[in-house]
Amino acid sequence: MTWSANAPSNIALIKYMGKKKTSLHEGQTTPANEATNPSFSYTLPHLITRVEISESMSGEDTWQLLEQKDFYHFEMSQTGLTKFLNYFAFLKTKFGMKGYYQIHSGNNFPADCGIASSASSFAALTLATYKLAREKFQINEWTMEQLALISRRGSGSSCRSFFGPWCLWDDSVVRQVNLPVEISELLHMVVLSSATKKKVSSSEAHKRVSTSLLFDGREERTRLRLQALQLALAEKKWNVAFEVSWAEFWDMHALFETSHPSFGYFEASSFEVLDLARTLWSEKNDGPIVTMDAGPNVHLLFRKDQKEIFSFVREKLSKRFKIISSI
Ligand code: DP6
Repeated sequence: MTWSANAPSNIALIKYMGKKKTSLHEGQTTPANEATNPSFSYTLPHLITRVEISESMSGEDTWQLLEQKDFYHFEMSQTGLTKFLNYFAFLKTKFGMKGYYQIHSGNNFPADCGIASSASSFAALTLATYKLAREKFQINEWTMEQLALISRRGSGSSCRSFFGPWCLWDDSVVRQVNLPVEISELLHMVVLSSATKKKVSSSEAHKRVSTSLLFDGREERTRLRLQALQLALAEKKWNVAFEVSWAEFWDMHALFETSHPSFGYFEASSFEVLDLARTLWSEKNDGPIVTMDAGPNVHLLFRKDQKEIFSFVREKLSKRFKIISSI
C-alpha cells in the first residue's frame, strides 16, 4: 500500500526572513519556525514535489529519490535528509503512527535552480503522511490550516504551499487571499544563474539576519509593504505591486549584506536580469513583478495579458541563461 501527495512550490513577494528567538533553540530537531514578520506569496502550481510513502520492514524510516518521467535527478544533502526524516518522525508522533516507512520524493524542477524545493517537499510530505495516518490509524480530520501550521515545523515557507493562488502567513494564521481574477493566474519565469557559488542556507540566513543593524524595524516595514501590496493587487495597480515587491527583496538582501559575518547571493547574471526589468519599466511603464529569494536567480511574474512582454523577455534572456517558465 502506498500513500502519496503532490504539493506546489511558492514564491514570496513579502519575504519570511528571521525567526523568533524561541524558535531557534539549539539541538531542537523540529524547530517551531515562528517568523518575526508576515509573509505573502504566489503559489506556483507548475512546480511540484510528489511524495510517496509505503510501509517498510527495515526497522528505520528511509528516503529515496522518486524516479518518474519528467522528474529531475537530485542528491539530498546529509543536512537536508536529517531535516526531512526528523520532521517525518515528528509527524509520526503527532499523528500517533506506529511502524517504519520508506519515503520516495521527487520534483518536476531541478533542485539546484533556486526554487524553494523545501516548500513543496515539506508540504507534500505533510499531506502524504496525513493521508496515511487517516487511513491506517483513523486519526481525526485536520483542517488545511492545521496541516499548514504543522508543515511550518518542517520548513517555514512550506505552510504557504497549502493555499493559492495567493497565501498570507502571519504568526499562527495561514490563509488564502482572494484577489481579482486578472491577478490570480500569473505567468512565472525564473532566470537561472550558471555559477555554483557556495551558498548560505536559508535556515542559516534566518539566524544571521538578526545581527544586522537593519533588522530593527524589519517587521514594521514588512507590515507596511504587505498592506500596500495587497491593496495594489486588489486595485490592479500592477506598477505599485512591482515597486513594493522590488523594495522588499532588496530589503531582505540588504539584511544579508549587513549581517555579521555578511553574506550575499547576487551574481553578475542577477544584475543583468534586474537591469532588463528596470529598463522595461522605465521605457514602457510596464513590466513584470520581480523578486529574488536567498539565491542568485531572479523570479518574474507577468499577468496573462502581458504575454507579449513575457515572450520578449524570454526570447532575450534565453540566449544567455537557462530559464524555467510556466508556459
Ligand atoms: C528567502 O522556509 O527555507 O525563501 O523555515 O528554516 O526551512 P526554514 O526556512 P525557509 O525560508 C525561506 C526564506 C525565503 C523567503 C520566503 O520564502 O518567504
